[in-house]
Amino acid sequence: MNKLLTVQQHSRLGKEVLRDCNLASITDQQVEELKQSLWEHGVIVVRKQKLTASQLKDFAIKTFGDSTIGRRPKPLDPEIAPDLQSPGVSILGNPKGLSGEVAGKIAWQWHHDKDHLPKTEGLDMNALYVVMLYGVSIPEEGTDGQPHTTEFLDMVEAYHNLDPQHRQQLELLSMYHLSPISPQPGVEIPRKLHPIVSTHKVTGRYCLYLGSDTSILKGLENQPEVAKQYWQELFEDILDCTPVYAHIWQPGDIVFWDNSQVMHTGMPYNANKYKRIALRVGVMANS
Ligand SMILES: [Fe+2]
Repeated sequence: MNKLLTVQQHSRLGKEVLRDCNLASITDQQVEELKQSLWEHGVIVVRKQKLTASQLKDFAIKTFGDSTIGRRPKPLDPEIAPDLQSPGVSILGNPKGLSGEVAGKIAWQWHHDKDHLPKTEGLDMNALYVVMLYGVSIPEEGTDGQPHTTEFLDMVEAYHNLDPQHRQQLELLSMYHLSPISPQPGVEIPRKLHPIVSTHKVTGRYCLYLGSDTSILKGLENQPEVAKQYWQELFEDILDCTPVYAHIWQPGDIVFWDNSQVMHTGMPYNANKYKRIALRVGVMANS
């Protein structure tokens, strides 16, 4: 896919907040500051953190509530340091050592997360789903030889960058979305319908929501190939007119993103050569 441009500084995304703050002992006032910055900027970063997985989870609950965190406890994996393990905290990368086996490879394509929204009954697809990703060990470089990054697209900017006629067309359309996490065999998870153009719950800004390339335009339910082609062409139109923001990782970064406002993609690295450990928590926020 052609990209217009990749930038490492963006006018809105990627703002550093709460400098010199330890998130394990964040104050109520700092919680408010962090949340307001997140809704305003879509992607923010707090640097130089040193947290265990449990501290990250406690911080997430204190800041955003615990609506999706309470997963069933799993027994500790003896091959992974106990500090990196806590129920509700996923470990991405190759925490067991150098090998081609990478947890989270599915994220190396453009998508919105919102993975709990389609499978949670009664929950509005426009809910504020926040992901925080804590970079514990960072690969020295990506497979392109450049610094290791996660890339983001500002879907508020993308909406405004499309030509007015295209915007008007999209305002009338909706897509069906499925959870990217496979259900247990035999468990049916219904698809949820969401307008392509929606209004952000806090800021009131218009933004585009595309899910991932498995999303199906309403009306094309019985034509999966046409639906996939529609999605890809729309996404290419967006990439043609909207720059990509690349967050360059430093160890200790915690990057937060509001899935209502941005799409993202993980970037590949050589897992036989470099270690990556990132802890991920996703939570439905009360604004
Ligand atoms: Fe993701």
